[in-house]
Amino acid sequence: MSVLLSSFARLALFLLAVFPSWVQCSSSESPMKRAPCPALPSSPQFSDTALPDPFTFLDGAAVTTLGAWTCRQAEVNSLFQINELGTKPPPPSTLTATLSSSNALAITASEAGKSITFTPTISFPTTGTAPFPAIIAFNGLSFPRPAGVALITFNVDDMAQQVNLASRGQGKFFTLYGANATASAMMAWAWGVSRIIDALEMTPNARIDTKRIAVTGCSRNGKGALVAGAFDTRIALTIPQESGSGGTDCWRLSDALQARGVVTQTASEIVQENVWFSRSFETFANTSVNMLPVDHHMLAGLVAPRALFVIDNVGIDWLGAESSFGCMKSARRIWQALGASNNMGYSQAASHDHCSFPASQQAVLTAFINKFLLGLSANTTVTETAGNYMFDTPGVWDPWNAPQLA
Ligand SMILES: *[C@@H]1O[C@H](CO)[C@@H](O)[C@H](O)[C@H]1NC(C)=O
Ligand SMILES: *[C@@H]1O[C@H](CO)[C@@H](O)[C@H](O)[C@H]1NC(C)=O
Repeated sequence: MSVLLSSFARLALFLLAVFPSWVQCSSSESPMKRAPCPALPSSPQFSDTALPDPFTFLDGAAVTTLGAWTCRQAEVNSLFQINELGTKPPPPSTLTATLSSSNALAITASEAGKSITFTPTISFPTTGTAPFPAIIAFNGLSFPRPAGVALITFNVDDMAQQVNLASRGQGKFFTLYGANATASAMMAWAWGVSRIIDALEMTPNARIDTKRIAVTGCSRNGKGALVAGAFDTRIALTIPQESGSGGTDCWRLSDALQARGVVTQTASEIVQENVWFSRSFETFANTSVNMLPVDHHMLAGLVAPRALFVIDNVGIDWLGAESSFGCMKSARRIWQALGASNNMGYSQAASHDHCSFPASQQAVLTAFINKFLLGLSANTTVTETAGNYMFDTPGVWDPWNAPQLA
């Protein structure tokens, strides 16, 4: 018996040495591709005044199967890294994590002789049983903390600054990967979230169930929360709150709103304001967003079929809630194609102070928390707006066909 065990142990060690990814594949942050996928065209020319078709590859081939969809999702993931957000580096060569007695989780990442330590904090719930579900909140939570859920507060500015254009390349991420790394601040934060999940996976005494993790933030941090959810398939629930343009708004729809006289944040403004996007995005923002092979219905679509709940406020023009409405209504067709429409919802409440969560949205938020973090049954069919907006799907903005893939 002991001989058998030890040869099995030796085989396992051999497999670990030869195929280190052998143990990681069940919890990878990257989307799984199921089929041989088409290569990205080398210098793609793209132009579309409407929202690009999520179900057509850049080379023109149609997505008709679930396998092809996994390839298209990987393509869209690459397109966002190339054109908007910069490169998300893979896990660093070395990662260590230590939970202090005050529940600070010190995470040290090392690569090529450089090393950083960042320290999100965990606040455990007073009800429920370990391991707990958790919400990773960018610079804190902007809605009431749900019972039975741990709160992990992530200081995103420490990872990548977001003061103004001079923030480019500033923060711990850039200490590790160099000030010229292509990653935008938001992609640097997304990398940080993935390392938090790695750290939780390797620290059982942190008592977090990494299969039940949500990510959220409000306003600029809501834009970032959507990016984090899009770029780590281990995140069960993504909750961007009042994220506006650069978050759940579509660039093309925000430009149209602006043209109609609603003073809304646009791509051309955002690249002059801050470093949330990569330098490569300026090419589109400075000329025309119609050249972008993606828009944010497809950023949301990187989350699918995992859960996405979009919280909006119709009272602030700059947020472009009508753009978010059309963008998310279009995005929801991706979940429909995957047979998972109830994993995606949006709620746009009547005018209120920015990032002050109104009681009118509590029941629908609770439904998403209950279903996707607490494992309870709940009705998550939520497609509501206080804005009385009209947006036909399919329509002039999304004239494409959505196949039935599942
Ligand atoms: C970043 O790029 C600039 C311009 O090419 C160069 O002068 C600078 O040395 C680079 N910085 C780092 C940290 O590599
Ligand atoms: C975009 O426009 C701004 C302002 O004119 C300029 O500073 C920046 O270099 C431009 N970027 C590109 C890629 O053309």
